[in-house]
Amino acid sequence: MNSKSYALITGASSGIGERFARALARRRMNLALVARSQEKLEALAQELKNTHGIQAEVIPLDLAQPGAAQSLIQILKERQIEVDLLINNAGAGAQGRFWEISLEREEQILRLNVQTLLELCHLLIPAMIQNRRGAIINVSSTASFQPLPYTSVYAATKSFVTHFSMGLTEELRPYGIKVVTLCPGPTQTNFFAAGEYRSMRFRGAMQSPEEVVKAGLRALDHGGGLTLCSARDNFLLFMERFIPRSWVARIVAGMFKP
Ligand SMILES: NC(=O)c1ccc[n+]([C@@H]2O[C@H](COP(=O)([O-])OP(=O)(O)OC[C@H]3O[C@@H](n4cnc5c(N)ncnc54)[C@H](OP(=O)(O)O)[C@@H]3O)[C@@H](O)[C@H]2O)c1
Repeated sequence: MNSKSYALITGASSGIGERFARALARRRMNLALVARSQEKLEALAQELKNTHGIQAEVIPLDLAQPGAAQSLIQILKERQIEVDLLINNAGAGAQGRFWEISLEREEQILRLNVQTLLELCHLLIPAMIQNRRGAIINVSSTASFQPLPYTSVYAATKSFVTHFSMGLTEELRPYGIKVVTLCPGPTQTNFFAAGEYRSMRFRGAMQSPEEVVKAGLRALDHGGGLTLCSARDNFLLFMERFIPRSWVARIVAGMFKP
């Protein structure tokens, strides 16, 4: 890794993204940290620079805004940051009846989870191919494997991420660029605790964000691919094959109904 090469992590101010930043700093990777919460990013960057002697750049941006990916690429160019590892982690969802959630909010979720992720891949992959070096971790979800009534848009955006990302894995394999499609199940982060799923009654153990990051980096070290983060999630995904999809949708509707 040269001094200009970085891991770019979106959604690095909390949860899974923050744990990715900590884990990669331990591997002595330089970091470009993106999210809206500038103060949190600056505190994290300072801590990781002091502890691990790495470079850590803070890029405060709202990635749900149209044109956010292009603005981010422009900032990377100005600061001469080369991205060797792209972690598309920033994501959001909303719980409720589809027509009662504002269209504006649904569109923000679509732009953040899908449009910005797609654009960042499109804008950064050509340089990776040219350099014959690079990797991508796209953070999807176990929500991507079935419809989730009452958070239908979120589940649909994550279906896009999983299928898009698995497609990219094969397209980029001949160039030696690894793609991890990381699918966490319910994880202890602000996503459930403080986010738009506050009213959800989730039964069952949640995994820690550290476990998710460990699974993602292990997959990266072993060539990429579709990655679930626990034996339970692997078992549930396997069992879902034997249940009609419409039944699955009915069963999970009970979990998300407001
Ligand atoms: N927690 C779970 O159960 C779970 C399960 C499966 C998949 N996931 C996925 O994991 C990823 C990370 O979520 P998390 O669980 O770590 O939740 P989190 O703690 O809420 O973190 C979300 C991150 O995304 C950033 N973000 C949100 N909206 C943004 C925007 N408009 N522009 C830029 N950054 C934005 C947040 O930072 P700011 O607020 O500072 O902008 C934060 O850093 C998401 O893609 C989520 O879908 C989570």
